[in-house]
Amino acid sequence: MQMHQLNESGWAKTYLIYDDKTKKSAIIDPVYDFVADYLDKVEELDLELVMCIATHTHADHITGCFTISEATNCDYVMWHSTPSLGVTKFVDESSVLDLGGEQIKFYHVPGHTEDSMLVVTSSHVFTGDFLFTGDGGVGRDDLPSGRMQSHWDSLQVMHKLPGHLLVCSGHEAPGVKMQTLDWNKEHNPVLKMTTFEEYVSWQKNTTEQLGYVSKIKVALPANLFAEVPDDVPWL
Ligand SMILES: [Fe+2]
Repeated sequence: MQMHQLNESGWAKTYLIYDDKTKKSAIIDPVYDFVADYLDKVEELDLELVMCIATHTHADHITGCFTISEATNCDYVMWHSTPSLGVTKFVDESSVLDLGGEQIKFYHVPGHTEDSMLVVTSSHVFTGDFLFTGDGGVGRDDLPSGRMQSHWDSLQVMHKLPGHLLVCSGHEAPGVKMQTLDWNKEHNPVLKMTTFEEYVSWQKNTTEQLGYVSKIKVALPANLFAEVPDDVPWL
């Protein structure tokens, strides 16, 4: 299974995974702004796009999932409890999706949002905003449907996953190198915490530093209703 991170700028990360032999491919967490580039890449590599997957209902960018799904007829995959419209395939912990012989599995990890999930292959775990690399910690829990207690409880999922999986998260600061789950257990401050109180204090400090999510009032309704507004202020 091949994996490429597709975004050349910004902090949001988008991943293309594909099987060399069958050319079946999937895009995870596409950003609407770059959809034309993603489709060019799929064509350039001569791939068949089977699905696009959103790890959760994003608040900081418009997802490219419904646009790509409408343009290519591929599935738009999300966790079954998502409030987002436009999804064509709902998954839960019993779902196994095939991508050219590779099995893709899903784990519910609510907290950053209620509909957050992990997307797991034999070599990678796509964590969305549930888990970032190293000092990045985890995503914030103060946005719509976010709950600190749920996020803290969801971290137990780490015990179910093999440590060799490479963590491909939804956001990273420029220059951050991808690392395995085992590496993150040693270097991610949140994974080293032992009490919920420590976690609450980390979340409060982090969200204070991050401040207001500039695109939320446009991006969140667009994602919930699967509709890009006529005027996207940043495009
Ligand atoms: Fe998010």
